[in-house]
Amino acid sequence: MTAVGIDGIEIWTGKLSLDLPEEFAPVMDDDPEKYTKGLGLFKSSFPDAYEDIVTMGANAAHRLMERKGIDPKEVGRIDVATESAFDKSKPASTYIAGALEQVLDGVFTHANKGERKFACISGTQALNDAVNWIAAGRNRGRGAIVITTDTALYERGDPGEATQGAGAVAMYVNKDPSIVEISMEQGFGSVDETDFLKPNQQFPSVDGKRSMQVYLARMREALEDFESETGGSHPDDYRFIPFHTPFPNMVRKAAVLGYRHTIRDTELEDTLAEQIGRQPRSEEYDDREAFSEDIQEYMDALSETDMYREWYERAIKPTVDISSRVGNWYTSSVHLARLSALIHANRKGIDLAGETLLVGSYGSGAQAEIHEELVVEGWEDEIDGDAVDTLLNVRHPITFEEYERVHDQHNHSKEKVQEPFTEPDGEFVFDGWGPMNERQYTFIE
Ligand code: CAA
Repeated sequence: MTAVGIDGIEIWTGKLSLDLPEEFAPVMDDDPEKYTKGLGLFKSSFPDAYEDIVTMGANAAHRLMERKGIDPKEVGRIDVATESAFDKSKPASTYIAGALEQVLDGVFTHANKGERKFACISGTQALNDAVNWIAAGRNRGRGAIVITTDTALYERGDPGEATQGAGAVAMYVNKDPSIVEISMEQGFGSVDETDFLKPNQQFPSVDGKRSMQVYLARMREALEDFESETGGSHPDDYRFIPFHTPFPNMVRKAAVLGYRHTIRDTELEDTLAEQIGRQPRSEEYDDREAFSEDIQEYMDALSETDMYREWYERAIKPTVDISSRVGNWYTSSVHLARLSALIHANRKGIDLAGETLLVGSYGSGAQAEIHEELVVEGWEDEIDGDAVDTLLNVRHPITFEEYERVHDQHNHSKEKVQEPFTEPDGEFVFDGWGPMNERQYTFIE
């Protein structure tokens, strides 16, 4: 079986940042700790006036191609995943490829281009499409560029406003990859849900609290499906577990559920039983409510144990670092979680080659997917945490009043009045509309 996976990763962040505890919380009349402790978020990224999903996606892909020296001829596929599309027919991948062709030596005439939609999980679906295309041998020796890009904005006043973000991730997918090989086993949990949707509207209709329950339910189904394929899973099997991260504390909730599930009937459950008893079993209950109360009580106790805390610090916490500094990047979010863990491991000198990651993706509407990834020798040469920090640290900080104008600027139904806060430098920018109402892009040297 050909080893296929991620050969290179680059990101691009929206160039503005809003400090949530300092700028957002006071105006919302909230305790800053609601953001830092309750949600686990410190800052959100926002797009400057000349940025959108195409500029961010093209900038991430450009960095990727330049760093890895990828020739357009070597690219047989460009897939974009987004839930912030502005064109119902022409995919963002064509706009991005056109922008890249302005500066690269070569064209993407023979690359298959598309756009994937299924809320945040479409990024992982696009990644899997690329992997399957190569594994099936239809790639003619070429690789795929997978781009996840979103402006994750909510209606003003929506509780989701606290979790906004904007940015893109570009991944090069190839055989014999330099970072991770992606397993062929997958688990899915997929049910028709209306937790978060955008029926022909820019900002989502969201049932925030229910969306959290739906996330957890689909993730559990995906894990069970995955285990039915692989024969089970154990927390110690995985060095890191990157989850879709709408905000870090969503992952905290998913983590304790996943840990409880995977320690059931293992020696870990037996060891913990001395402190907190054994897990309640649903088959021992006639009353569903009593079972739910007891299981919640068990999980509360579990999350306080040293064993759980050590596992959380080792396998989960390193995955949410970037998210806590940028907010929700929707389709990119799980890919930022993986990158976050790899940067952490690189900085700590952790030898990851041969270790396995368990990757949990989620998209509202709703579907979760679980697969494994095997970290390969030499992965650390591809991971540059300082470059990511530089991008994040040079973001221009905005006040709440400036944020209001930035939000209006990116609101499709409002007049555009905001001058840019930053000077574009060596990047693609949105440059106005063409005769067919198409968006146009230029590279600024
Ligand atoms: N100190 C510490 N913690 C505090 C606090 C304080 N002073 N004040 C509040 N908190 C805690 C709350 O207890 C709560 O934590 P728990 O959930 O553990 O109880 C947390 O901070 C958030 O507070 P609220 O529940 O009061 O926040 P809210 O009602 O304003 O909304 C939200 C939270 C529902 C997540 C909202 O931000 C939202 O709708 N977000 C968008 C939807 C979303 O992200 N859903 C996630 C799953 S769906 C998905 O993953 C897809 C996707 O990307 C969108």
